[in-house]
Amino acid sequence: MAKSIQVDELTLGVCYYPEHWPEALWEDDFRRMRELNISVVRMAEFAWAIMEPEEGRFDFSFFARVMDLAHQYGLKVILGTPTATPPAWLTHKYPEVLNADVDGTLHRHGMRRHYNYSSPKYRELCARITRNMVEAYKDHPAVIGWQIDNEFNCESNVYYAEADHVAFRQWLKARYGTLEKLNEAWGTVFWSQTYTDWEQVYLTRPMANPSPNPHLALDEKRFISDNTISFAKLQGDIIRELAPQHWVTTNGLFGHLDSHALTDEVLDFFSYDSYPQFSTIFPSDDENSLKDRAWSMSLANVRSISPNFCVMEQQSGPGGWVNRMEMASPRPGQIRLWSYQSVLHGCDLLVYFRWRTATMGTEIYWHGINDHHNQPNRRVREVGQIGAEFAKIGGAIAGTTYQAEIALLQDYDNHWDGEFDVWHGPFQWQSQRAWFKQLQYRHIPADRITLRPATTLEDLAKYKVIVYPHAAIMTDETANLLQRYVEQGGKLFFGARTGYKNPTGQVNMRPLPGPVAELCGVTVEDYTMIKGTAKAAEIKGADGRLAEGTKAVGFNEILRVDKPDVEVVAKYASEYYEGEPALTRRKAGSGEAWYYGAAYSEQVVDALIDELRLVSPVANWLEVPAEVELGIRASDAGAYVFLLNYADRPVAALLKQRVQDSLTGVWLEGEVELPAFGVWVFERPSA
Ligand code: GLA
Repeated sequence: MAKSIQVDELTLGVCYYPEHWPEALWEDDFRRMRELNISVVRMAEFAWAIMEPEEGRFDFSFFARVMDLAHQYGLKVILGTPTATPPAWLTHKYPEVLNADVDGTLHRHGMRRHYNYSSPKYRELCARITRNMVEAYKDHPAVIGWQIDNEFNCESNVYYAEADHVAFRQWLKARYGTLEKLNEAWGTVFWSQTYTDWEQVYLTRPMANPSPNPHLALDEKRFISDNTISFAKLQGDIIRELAPQHWVTTNGLFGHLDSHALTDEVLDFFSYDSYPQFSTIFPSDDENSLKDRAWSMSLANVRSISPNFCVMEQQSGPGGWVNRMEMASPRPGQIRLWSYQSVLHGCDLLVYFRWRTATMGTEIYWHGINDHHNQPNRRVREVGQIGAEFAKIGGAIAGTTYQAEIALLQDYDNHWDGEFDVWHGPFQWQSQRAWFKQLQYRHIPADRITLRPATTLEDLAKYKVIVYPHAAIMTDETANLLQRYVEQGGKLFFGARTGYKNPTGQVNMRPLPGPVAELCGVTVEDYTMIKGTAKAAEIKGADGRLAEGTKAVGFNEILRVDKPDVEVVAKYASEYYEGEPALTRRKAGSGEAWYYGAAYSEQVVDALIDELRLVSPVANWLEVPAEVELGIRASDAGAYVFLLNYADRPVAALLKQRVQDSLTGVWLEGEVELPAFGVWVFERPSA
């Protein structure tokens, strides 16, 4: 059962760092927060040096004072444990707690997240500050919940301290039992890598040409994920023991961490930090890029963990550190647009980062709602508008969830293996993005879901269509589950490179697509990477189903049809494999298994959407252009259609029914304009 945040109404919060400001400002800050309908304040997550100024001396008076005042203003408080920022006295005395580069260079005091999760000393000190902090604040009437640490695996998601090598060995002993099994799993017979003593085993170490054993590289990521979870659990258990009345969460979606397992094992619900303006500093190279709208792709991931979640940090101004990440200012309306982007995808508690722009430190350009000067500005006014709207619609929307009939399926093993293995990893991203984009542009809401050991047929069967494009690692058990999904009526899409590896990342000695060859009724006879002299072949659909000149990108597999009930939907139309099958469909039970011997491009996805006759769920009464994201949040009580215009100009919409925008109360019908960065939320008409 997925774990969601439980609130009665959409709730606004803000990150606040009282330690950055004169005490004389606090009261005015809290009063103004209430005027904006902000009712939750998140604090303390970086304040270890205040709460434990020297080893073993604790002083919790500062935040007690802050919270007393917050309480007077009716504000609720989320407290962060401060373990992302160990104080100078700590790392100076115990350098073994520091994280290290692959070459062993320690990450020294002066930034944040410079520690490792394995050091017994760091675990001891983290447990102690957490225990003391929870004891000190657990009965404070303002506190509602806890955030553990801050953004696990942000800044760095690899760990090479001495303590990590030791912990990795322990983890491997638990996983494999014997060195013999480890040697087998990592294929160490190759290049004489065989280990004869556990002490010889390390995480990745420096090498002239950084190509470590690929099976080790995969286990390294699994280890980091498990180690992160066990580090988080240490704190989660203490909070639950001492403050069972409070909820526990943590924020951020970062690499080498199974956030689904983290949530299962440690949290009450997951929280995310949403900064869509990163799209302006890491622009995507594809044409037609989703830009800030691409954050919906991450939010779709987040709601697969917690259908209703918290955004612990929502961008509320331009971002930027002193020396990097310089971002454009959000244009008028964009903060509101991004806030509703989060809400559409299931956010019920939205916390802005941050109340006021810092005047000192690394983040003096990471703007909050208020500027340094603390005078009225347009961002505060925009948040005030959102606060007023939440007051109006928040009760009806909270607890409703995003609705989708198509899902893009992924899994952690393939993701982590594909980070290193360029023979399948890049295709996962290419295909997931192509599908997500085209579905977005054509207003077909889609979920992103993660295949896990606990995934059941029921989890999959709620989708009419599932795309699981390039699962290089595939077991017979997974293939069996997928077969049952198809037989009960699902339409399932695979892509190139499916099924060639086992869970160690070693290659199966069986024809491709391995475990799903039977289900698809095809065998991969030959293949080529599209690189160097190999050009992506053109493909031609039967009955003109694909546009002239459509290319099969990334990788080309030449398919052989093995079963009479396989339909060849498209063939290669150029290269030495011209005329051979490229895209096939096989009916099995009441469903269909599709196999595509390449990575999906937007053009191919577009044709498949037509083929599947997928349309917007409100196509009968509502037409909007591609620039607009359309999604629905619903419960048994009602359904709300969200329309978000990411364009910096008004766009034309056609409403074939008279509907009311719940945010403004305005009734709309016929040809109407959705303003630049505008948002509408309609209650779905019953007819
Ligand atoms: C992250 C962190 C915040 C802050 C912002 C802006 O999301 O959690 O503390 O640093 O980035 O840089």
